[in-house]
Amino acid sequence: MPIRWPAEAIWEQVAPLLPGFTVEVLPQLDSTNSELMRRARTGLVEPTLLVAEQQTAGRGRLGRAWQSQAGASLTFSLGLPLAPADWSGLSLAVGCSIAESLDPAVQLKWPNDLWVRDHKLGGILVETASFGAGDPRRHAVVGVGLNVALRPSEGLSTPAAALQELDPTADVASTLLRVALPLVQALQAFESFGFAPFQARFMARDALRDRPVALSDGTVGTAHGVGETGSLLVHTAAGMQAVSSSEVSVRPAVLRP
Ligand code: BTN
Repeated sequence: MPIRWPAEAIWEQVAPLLPGFTVEVLPQLDSTNSELMRRARTGLVEPTLLVAEQQTAGRGRLGRAWQSQAGASLTFSLGLPLAPADWSGLSLAVGCSIAESLDPAVQLKWPNDLWVRDHKLGGILVETASFGAGDPRRHAVVGVGLNVALRPSEGLSTPAAALQELDPTADVASTLLRVALPLVQALQAFESFGFAPFQARFMARDALRDRPVALSDGTVGTAHGVGETGSLLVHTAAGMQAVSSSEVSVRPAVLRP
């Protein structure tokens, strides 16, 4: 069955906020982020929501691959010019917006994973391209991958979470319609006000809060929410550390008695 994408409805909602906005749905692409970044490098920087029904080379953070399945996964990128005074926390703000659009049970695992009951529901990959020397704007490409349908063979014991566990009626098209406009609004709020208005929103859904965590550099401690620029606050043996490096990955650790 072909997917009936709500391209027109999204365009009608978003175009008044983003002049020149287009929605494009392609049956297959290597990666929606890669495609928008390629376009940006050739000067194509009109605000675009690019959806791929199937990605053949989806990318995640830290150079990882992002696997997805046509019909079961929503994979899209939104490319638009942005000029915030401070870029810190952008991907966390995106996470807040997506989680809030989906379900109260969706949590955020710093820096930008969406979790349900400690299982990964989705991820966010933000990349930017320069507009040229002297231009304060950058072309931001905000990529979102969400597991929507349960894969039949895996049932509820799947190691990844799926939105249908929370809402059995969810599908990729209706999910895109739910998240698109709030995402644009969140990006515009971030451009004007930075991460500050998102700090409490992030904390309300913080999956790591007050939990023991281990950083990929070997540091262990207890997570204490995020600071006003989105850094993860970790109480370690050496005191409180603000972890801001996107190159650091964090996982909940098991408490030893
Ligand atoms: C992560 O969890 O590491 C981030 C995953 C981001 C995946 C999305 S799917 C749409 C867009 N295109 C990509 O190649 N990646 C992002």
